[in-house]
Amino acid sequence: MATLAIHNGRVIDPALGRDGIADVVIVDGRIARVGPNEGDMVVEAERIDATGLVVVPGFVDLHTHLREPGFEGKETIRTGTAAAARGGYTTVCAMANTRPPMDSRAAIESVLREAEKSGIVRVLPIGCITRGREGAELAPAGELAGAGVVALSDDGDAVSDPSLMRHALEYATRWGLPVAQHCEDPALVRDGQMHEGWVATRLGLRGRPASAEETFVARDIALAELTGGHLHICHVSTAGSVALIAAAKARGAHVTAEVAPHHLTLTHEEVGFGDDYRSIHYHTNAKVNPPLREEVDIAALRAALRSGIIDAVATDHAPHGQGDKEIEFDLAAPGLTMLETSFALCMKLVHDGDIDLPTLIERMTIGPVRAWGLDIRAGFDGLGTLAPGAPGDVAILDPNAEWTVDPAAFASKGKNTPLAGRMLRGLVVATVFGGALVHDTGRVVAL
Ligand code: DOR
Repeated sequence: MATLAIHNGRVIDPALGRDGIADVVIVDGRIARVGPNEGDMVVEAERIDATGLVVVPGFVDLHTHLREPGFEGKETIRTGTAAAARGGYTTVCAMANTRPPMDSRAAIESVLREAEKSGIVRVLPIGCITRGREGAELAPAGELAGAGVVALSDDGDAVSDPSLMRHALEYATRWGLPVAQHCEDPALVRDGQMHEGWVATRLGLRGRPASAEETFVARDIALAELTGGHLHICHVSTAGSVALIAAAKARGAHVTAEVAPHHLTLTHEEVGFGDDYRSIHYHTNAKVNPPLREEVDIAALRAALRSGIIDAVATDHAPHGQGDKEIEFDLAAPGLTMLETSFALCMKLVHDGDIDLPTLIERMTIGPVRAWGLDIRAGFDGLGTLAPGAPGDVAILDPNAEWTVDPAAFASKGKNTPLAGRMLRGLVVATVFGGALVHDTGRVVAL
């Protein structure tokens, strides 16, 4: 029997309402016991000293672009899951905009096979809403459900045709799958490059208005209410969207939502200025869809995450190569590499007093699990919690440790972050997956 004992950390397990100093004992890859001094009761064990650190269930990411198959130059299942482990994530849901896209059983099975072979953490595949992500006809949802997808999404593009979206929501309910929509109306964003606002005007770039997101959020909520389907709204970025989601939830619509760490912490000014307001730049590493918005949006998103109107933090980890970013702004690929900076960025909310640590941990563990109903689906028992019998997936955190972002040191192939050189506060000290250490900064000394 392989036993791992994590001693004396502050254990926060929001699913069980636990918050206190305890040991976590993992036997043969599963949580065996959690409680004060439990680790002292086991004789033969590998041991970790978590004194002064926070011990939580491994994070669950509903929105990760792993890029394999098709874009292995940007990321692979191996490098993406290694980045996940560094970020404290033990479960990542792999987005469907690969090449080929995830619209067939064969495609899904190939990802599951590769994840089994080279994944450092758990990979749960997402299938396409429409064939080829082309927005013209539905992908075979039943076949995808049978192959093991946890949601359907054409992320990167919205399903624009309202009738198709209606049928997607209707059809997906048969398999209990959420339809995760990238809410931006292509007719309104056209070739918009960043948030429509004063920075776009100053830079002479075409904007993507907040209303392009909000009109689709409103439309899709109406379709979810019409069909009874489960609408999940990807990467909510505006205050207006938050208000629409709050009203929909108050009416009892089956709507869930996620927010990305960058939308909680960075504004559109990042694109033109970054850290330096003396001159303007065109920072392609701050180009992302939906775009970085304004302070009022950040305030609304933080409040919604605190109250639960937004169910989960999801990284939208979107690695790109140098060649995709070191070009003219209009041609640069949108997206930020995020898995390895997610926890530290989110800790900014805690340090700013906008959310408490247990609530943040909830939104990164059991929050996403419940949002997609994984807690009640067969085969996903115990994800996002440290309940006895759950997978031995743990993140060990130092909420106050400061570190400087160095993309060259990322496990991800994607170095595309606007945070290079910035000091962040909040460190993932170690990550345990299925009872094995998969990330270790060397700070957790064996006792
Ligand atoms: O900026 C983005 N990049 N937004 C998306 O929705 C897709 C993603 C990507 O795949 O690169």
